[in-house]
Amino acid sequence: MSKQFRVVCNWKMNKTISEAVSFVKEIPPLLAPNYIAVPFTALNALASLDIPMLQIGAQNIYPQPEGAFTGEISAPQVREAGAEFVIVGHSERRQLFAETNEFINKKVKAAILHDLLPILCIGESALDRENGQAAEVLKTQLLESLKEIEPKTFRNLGIAYEPVWAIGTGKASTAQSAQEVHFMLRNLIQEHWGEDEAQEVFILYGGSVSPDSIEELMKQPDIDGVLVGGASLKIKTYSKIIELVRGDLS
Ligand code: PGA
Repeated sequence: MSKQFRVVCNWKMNKTISEAVSFVKEIPPLLAPNYIAVPFTALNALASLDIPMLQIGAQNIYPQPEGAFTGEISAPQVREAGAEFVIVGHSERRQLFAETNEFINKKVKAAILHDLLPILCIGESALDRENGQAAEVLKTQLLESLKEIEPKTFRNLGIAYEPVWAIGTGKASTAQSAQEVHFMLRNLIQEHWGEDEAQEVFILYGGSVSPDSIEELMKQPDIDGVLVGGASLKIKTYSKIIELVRGDLS
């Protein structure tokens, strides 16, 4: 069974509702599922447009379904607003909002419970890499964030390897070194959950993905897709990525 190469976009704190709506109306026809994680405010408007093959998702959730958590948003709330997936554990949340693996694990569980496909982000910092700690850091993030996750979940789970030093810097990892990390992650999943689970999960690469880097990434056997930030904000670069992925320009 060959896997469809997935393009997941992360808009971060960009675009108002009207900007988001006009953007998605301009994207070229999609031949395979594409995913955009949008600001909460734009979720409902974009999901209601029902654009074929376009799945709309959230960039974060709080683990509890409801309650006195001022300013937070729950899995059932984003689900009803039209989200089909959610990004959890992005490095910006880990760094700027002090999210721990334990807290992220609760979010993964909340997403699964409320029928949202979780996309878990993990990634080492430049310092981890300099210190030769990258593999250990990634292993801890993966295993702690996925603690007690049932094997059957892996059919509907994404993992995004996003080295922190590559995010928003224009310095993407080489496809070869991303492949090595993805191979290691897949082996870890096989060891801890099983062989089928390791094949079913999709592992994305993220960090300065652009139309220039995507073709090499697509050639790697363990890279099942990409998580795109900056390049997904402009219609020109996003459209080019879609076209390259579906083979129009190759
Ligand atoms: P970038 O962001 O593509 O702008 O590096 C990726 C991400 O943070 O998910």
